[in-house]
Amino acid sequence: MSTLDAAPTALIVHAHPEPHSFSTAQMATAAQALRDTGYRVDILDLYADAWSPVLAREEFAPAEGPFKPQAAQMRAIEDGTLDATVKAHLDRLLAADLLVLSFPMWWFSLPAILKGWVDRVFVMGGVFGGDHGLFGDAALAGKQAMLLLTTGGPSESFHPEGTFGPMEDFLFHIHRGMLEFVGYHVLNPVITYGPAHMTDQERAAALESVRDSVTLIAGETGTSRAYAAR
Ligand SMILES: Cc1cc2nc3c(=O)[nH]c(=O)nc-3n(C[C@H](O)[C@H](O)[C@H](O)COP(=O)(O)O)c2cc1C
Repeated sequence: MSTLDAAPTALIVHAHPEPHSFSTAQMATAAQALRDTGYRVDILDLYADAWSPVLAREEFAPAEGPFKPQAAQMRAIEDGTLDATVKAHLDRLLAADLLVLSFPMWWFSLPAILKGWVDRVFVMGGVFGGDHGLFGDAALAGKQAMLLLTTGGPSESFHPEGTFGPMEDFLFHIHRGMLEFVGYHVLNPVITYGPAHMTDQERAAALESVRDSVTLIAGETGTSRAYAAR
């Protein structure tokens, strides 16, 4: 087995419509930091790939009775009839040791294109339910996930006494409701607050900080898997 074969894989799922955005630069910086610490990096750029976030009945084989999305997902896994694009993304997800969701915070949550990726690719029967359980019994147990995001608001606004309230409250539905739900161990998020208000020099420093944070996390998880973020 070559060194590359033995390398852990990181899947970065990126959701920003502008290739020249800070968010996209942050994603590229994180990708390089992961490569530098020995990860093989797989990048899914949802806007560039014109990913459709809509979970629609048309992607499933016709069935009797009302359309029940999770039942349809289970059946598609069992029958091997999962939509080809969704199946390809699911295979890349299952092959990854580390999942990184990269996005700008929109409405204190994920951009719709990324939420729709979770809707369609975190398939019932494929990553939880069916032969898998939930949380520690789900298909991605033993793997790691982290969020890589930017905000419009400054960090003070996301302090417990700040205008918005604690950042961890906004991330809870992603950390617990999506990532831990399907088995991931969730690492600390890497966040750049308010890049739109930064000078070029400050942006460069912020990217350096992203590189350091990702290197630290990846260095601690890549080989030993011993990192405990919480
Ligand atoms: C639809 C939309 C919703 C947004 N919602 C939030 C929000 O809830 N909280 C916040 O801090 N910034 C919000 N923003 C600002 C973006 O997070 C911010 O512009 C982005 O993270 C900056 O990174 P970029 O320059 O790479 O886009 C929103 C922006 C858009 C377009």
